[in-house]
Amino acid sequence: MVRVSSPGKVILFGEHAVVYGHPAVAVAVKARTEVDVYPASDEGQTTVNGELIDGYRHKHLLLAHELLSKGSPMRFRIRSRVPSTMGLGSSSALTIASAGGILALDGDVDPEKLAQFAFEIEYKAGGKASPLDTSTSIAGGAVALLPESESGFLWQIEKDGIRWCAHSCPVPSASLVIGYTGNKSRTHELVGKVGKLAKAHGFVAEIFKDIGRIALVGLRALQQGDMNEVGVQMNRNHELLSMVGVSNNDLDRLVEAAKPHSYGAKLTGKGGGGSMIALTDEPELVAEAIRREGGKPMEFDWDTQGFEIVRTEG
Ligand code: PMV
Repeated sequence: MVRVSSPGKVILFGEHAVVYGHPAVAVAVKARTEVDVYPASDEGQTTVNGELIDGYRHKHLLLAHELLSKGSPMRFRIRSRVPSTMGLGSSSALTIASAGGILALDGDVDPEKLAQFAFEIEYKAGGKASPLDTSTSIAGGAVALLPESESGFLWQIEKDGIRWCAHSCPVPSASLVIGYTGNKSRTHELVGKVGKLAKAHGFVAEIFKDIGRIALVGLRALQQGDMNEVGVQMNRNHELLSMVGVSNNDLDRLVEAAKPHSYGAKLTGKGGGGSMIALTDEPELVAEAIRREGGKPMEFDWDTQGFEIVRTEG
């Protein structure tokens, strides 16, 4: 048996645009998914928390099992503390923990190999995607995806002529407050919708380029520890995301409420519901402002620990 764990994440800069190869930054948060993987006897069946694996409820897990198990049945036990459908990367954390757990049955896990497999699984599960969430869940801390490699390089992933080079970068020196709107968001639908919009309207491609530029300026500010500039770029990023239609009134209201007490605030992840984030030195005031606007505030610490083999038995 192996027990592995991996964190969820928030996106500081560049969601959606990163799917088309533009720069982006995400940071792991202390909300983790833990998976135990047991090799079952050859006649046994693959189960998840005691029930037969099912392609609807356990899509990512099934894909990981098909890709990596060489046909051997396995038993999985999942405990997730990453809230789902809030834009906190719950499906990526599960993909990493389950694919990493299967690989860990054979010994140490090569993070680069895991990153390649995990992206393949995410891509098969939902079509167009970027390796931002999965790379962050593997590496922990803050991860920047860039088209070219520079210092802090971790690994690179290529698909459909797009290259993403993953890099480790500094975690923000501010507290994180997440504001959940109360409405679920559906990544694949929304990524597909934005894709259609991008094909039909040249201006969306231009906005994605601008988001990429903002992500790069934001990254440099993060590397210099300039939280004021990080915040300015987050606010600009939110405005551009609104222009491509992935924000909504609830998200905009929570972002505006958080701003007076924050370095910056923006929606995080796919949008269309889900959550916003604020970076702040006054987390209580931000949480109160979010609550006043009808949102659900949550505080999470940054998590510098990425994918981890917690225990091996037998
Ligand atoms: O909301 P999440 O955690 O699924 O983040 C999605 C981020 C996107 O850029 C919209 C998609 C992707 O694969 O990068």
